[in-house]
Amino acid sequence: MKQDKHKVFIIGGGNVAKHLAWQFTQTSSVELTGVWNRHSEKWKDFPGNIKIYKDLNYLPQVDIIIIAVKDDSIEDISRRLPEKNVLTVHTSGVMPVQIIQSERKGVFYPLQSLSADHLDIPFRETVPLLIHAENKNDLILLKKLASSISNRVFHVDDQQRSFLHLAAVYANNFTRYLLSVSYQILKHKGLDFNILTPLIKQTFQNIDNQDPFEKMTGPAIRNDHKTIEKHLRILRENFPENYTEIYQILTQSIKDEKKKRDSEN
Ligand SMILES: NC(=O)c1ccc[n+]([C@@H]2O[C@H](COP(=O)([O-])OP(=O)(O)OC[C@H]3O[C@@H](n4cnc5c(N)ncnc54)[C@H](OP(=O)(O)O)[C@@H]3O)[C@@H](O)[C@H]2O)c1
Repeated sequence: MKQDKHKVFIIGGGNVAKHLAWQFTQTSSVELTGVWNRHSEKWKDFPGNIKIYKDLNYLPQVDIIIIAVKDDSIEDISRRLPEKNVLTVHTSGVMPVQIIQSERKGVFYPLQSLSADHLDIPFRETVPLLIHAENKNDLILLKKLASSISNRVFHVDDQQRSFLHLAAVYANNFTRYLLSVSYQILKHKGLDFNILTPLIKQTFQNIDNQDPFEKMTGPAIRNDHKTIEKHLRILRENFPENYTEIYQILTQSIKDEKKKRDSEN
């Protein structure tokens, strides 16, 4: 039996809105009925034929409305939607489902760093979708929609999603910042960042489903006092104070964790 396509409408015009729109236009089981953004010109150069709506009060009849705007504006936008009985979801990692001012509400959160400059990514394999809905039938609908574009669909509640988002900040944003510190340290001495890239790649390739601390090497875990002192001296003499502070906090955390684990064994 031929199944009806899921009709989807997207609100927003940034990174997530464009990635989802791109994926849905590639999927035969979904009909992207249109998009709306505060500044409609953001959709002007979008590849393919997409219907751009200019008035939030006159949207087409759909199964799901996805609100992909900045966290602070989700509640306001959902309040402005005239149709209160359509399943309406947001795409935020931290906002609770309850901020959606609609009778049927949910979450459709892509756990990946997405940039509208690179739409052509292997989305299905590399973008986990964390979904949630208040009622069972809506959850089934969201699961179908999510599975049409990703092989990694997980149902998590608000609290689990917040913990995943927090873990992602450590895994992605903080490591990226630490890599930028490495970059600055080498730049200061006129050294090429590429010298470090095999080490960086190996570090991330070795991450599988086990505790990453198990494979820790370096002066902190060995408690190489003289090396640590030398690093701190270089940092104090050449770089902003926060580089030294970060080094000290991370070194102490690694030492403490090692001590704790040693005492447990
Ligand atoms: N990017 C990611 O990697 C990522 C991953 C997962 C989840 N998310 C979540 O997805 C949502 C959108 O993120 P994004 O990265 O796509 O953001 P973005 O690229 O910065 O785009 C922000 C969107 O919010 C709209 N907006 C900003 N202020 C507004 C206001 N006062 N009223 C109405 N609309 C407003 C912008 O409209 P204009 O274009 O008119 O300014 C734009 O459509 C957020 O909830 C974010 O937490 C992001």
